[in-house]
Amino acid sequence: MAHKTYGIDFGTGTVKVYKKSDGIILNERTVVATVGKGPQQRPVAIGDKAYEMFEKVPPNIKVSFPLENGVISHMGDMISLWNFMLEKLSGKRKLKNADFYIAVPADIREVDKNAYSRVVSEGESKPHKVFLIHKPIADALGLNLDVENSRGIMIVNVGADTTEISVLSLGGIVVSKLLPYGGNYFDEQIINYIRKEHNFVIGRKSAEQIKKSLVSAVPVDEKVTVVGRNVVKGLPGEVTVASSEIFPLVQGVFMTISAAVRSMLERTPPEIASEIAEKGIYLTGGSSWIRGMDQLVANETRYRINTTKHAQRTVVSGLGYLAEHPKTAARYSIPLKSTKD
Ligand SMILES: Nc1ncnc2c1ncn2[C@@H]1O[C@H](COP(=O)(O)OP(=O)(O)OP(=O)(O)O)[C@@H](O)[C@H]1O
Ligand SMILES: [Mg+2]
Repeated sequence: MAHKTYGIDFGTGTVKVYKKSDGIILNERTVVATVGKGPQQRPVAIGDKAYEMFEKVPPNIKVSFPLENGVISHMGDMISLWNFMLEKLSGKRKLKNADFYIAVPADIREVDKNAYSRVVSEGESKPHKVFLIHKPIADALGLNLDVENSRGIMIVNVGADTTEISVLSLGGIVVSKLLPYGGNYFDEQIINYIRKEHNFVIGRKSAEQIKKSLVSAVPVDEKVTVVGRNVVKGLPGEVTVASSEIFPLVQGVFMTISAAVRSMLERTPPEIASEIAEKGIYLTGGSSWIRGMDQLVANETRYRINTTKHAQRTVVSGLGYLAEHPKTAARYSIPLKSTKD
């Protein structure tokens, strides 16, 4: 019997799901809203709907972000997210015996792999097989690159909590480094700065809005106004922020990312580096859309940079490719759990 097959990219910021034969069927915030505690905990919303509840829910509803730095950090919440998500994906019928490809960072620790194993085994719907796929491989496949035969591919995936810099050659990962910086870091810096310098408390959503408009890897001259609460007066109001205020807050991280890319290139064997130089570096992940990111990495490395309008979807598209091509998938799959053979 053919099994339903799904590819899941559990990003720290957004979860993306590909269903075999159907394509990408879900792209929502990795957020779960629950009521109750311990064994009584029950999900009431996930994804964008749960995110909408964030910062305005009554105290009996808990809104949680179950991943940090690209791996599971809150087990109970993650199981709630998993159960609710599968229910949503399968409609009225319970999802049974499905196969899953789950993207994980290339240098994932054993304990973090085991966390996925627990989620799957403690979840309500029992899967047929679950495979882990290293994210850089999925990313490269999602970019339609010839992973098997290319001598050198460099991918820099700038996500919500992480930046994963990887070099691939002839179907394998030569080296990969996971930096604990991504778009969320910028949001946090913005929140802290506005509280300290403007005496305004703003929410995560407003911070993200400011980031998308003002954060730039190269200086720009723009302003944005958001709503918040004045901490001195205790009243709601508006606060206007200029890009010149934000730039110094985030400059260090841009430098850290580009220095890490440069240092990895310096340690890459020449025959691999020459092919990377020929093709250019691939920038992916939602935060690769930050203005000037491509220009900054190009300046720092002197390599050509390729960007994509599918930056948030390349990993899940690669998982989708594997779901549609089981023979290729077999070469890259790390078996996690086999409930039935
Ligand atoms: N236009 C944009 N400009 C700047 N940042 C953006 C833009 N669109 C999305 N982002 C940011 O991209 C990030 C999400 O990207 P992505 O989905 O690749 O991350 P993720 O996979 O959830 O996280 P990670 O890979 O770190 O676990 C968020 O921080 C979001 O604010
Ligand atoms: Mg990601």
